[in-house]
Amino acid sequence: MRLSIEVTSMNEIKLLYKPNNEPISIAVLVSGTGTNLVALYEEQKRLERLGEKNYGRVDVVFTNVPNCKGAERAKEFGIPVVSLSSKSFFDILQKNPDNNEAREFYDAAAITLIEEVCKPDLVVLAGYRRRLGSIFISRYENRILNIYPGDITKTYLVRGVEAPIQALRTGENTIKCTVFLAREEERFGPAIIQSNQISLEGLKEEDIKEIEEKIRKEGEWIIYPFVVHHLIAKGRVGIDLEDNIYIDGTRMPNGGYQFKNSYLATD
Ligand code: GRF
Repeated sequence: MRLSIEVTSMNEIKLLYKPNNEPISIAVLVSGTGTNLVALYEEQKRLERLGEKNYGRVDVVFTNVPNCKGAERAKEFGIPVVSLSSKSFFDILQKNPDNNEAREFYDAAAITLIEEVCKPDLVVLAGYRRRLGSIFISRYENRILNIYPGDITKTYLVRGVEAPIQALRTGENTIKCTVFLAREEERFGPAIIQSNQISLEGLKEEDIKEIEEKIRKEGEWIIYPFVVHHLIAKGRVGIDLEDNIYIDGTRMPNGGYQFKNSYLATD
């Protein structure tokens, strides 16, 4: 009898999304102002006008804060919005919103509401202020993106202090923002892309609002649409079993793809 042994390479690269002739279906989760949702949607519209095939289409917006600005913007755009107030949900259950068992109930309900509208290929967290539990993370394995207004490769990062404040305290005069894959246990999963360096020159801790706005404008509103519409939707992003990220088959450094200048004219 011959034994056959199947060898699976540790470096097998799996695409986060394999394009077909349809746009990739996206669910965006928001809790606040939703400016990143607007940036994603505007690029979607621009690509639709150009007659592109492989781009992202926001099919549903989910919010845990009904009537937040982001949800209102989505409604104005005509995007279906589903909401489930996390405040009411946990009040009714008489559980702490950080209770892990109750988190799974909440997430299961959220998935149900989302999937009554569409079966998303990609979930984009855009200022969603709840930690996702295991049901959510495993249902959309390697398909949940989040954005952080700082460089997630830095070792000085601690929870509870805004990233730019930590950068200033460390003496940095620039900062990058990062898009990464959400994970259950780790705070940040693998980084897919980072923005250009954004200058912090002349800015102080008390300018935090101004700095956050600057990071959104010079970083987030550029790299989030780029990674969704121009990288993932086009099937350019892969991951191996050791969580290394690949773009067009090339292994990326720790911080992911380092964004350079304007992509719109050339990419
Ligand atoms: C962003 O600055 C992002 O870094 C953080 O939440 C903020 C969301 O902003 N995760 P908005 O709601 O998209 O305006």
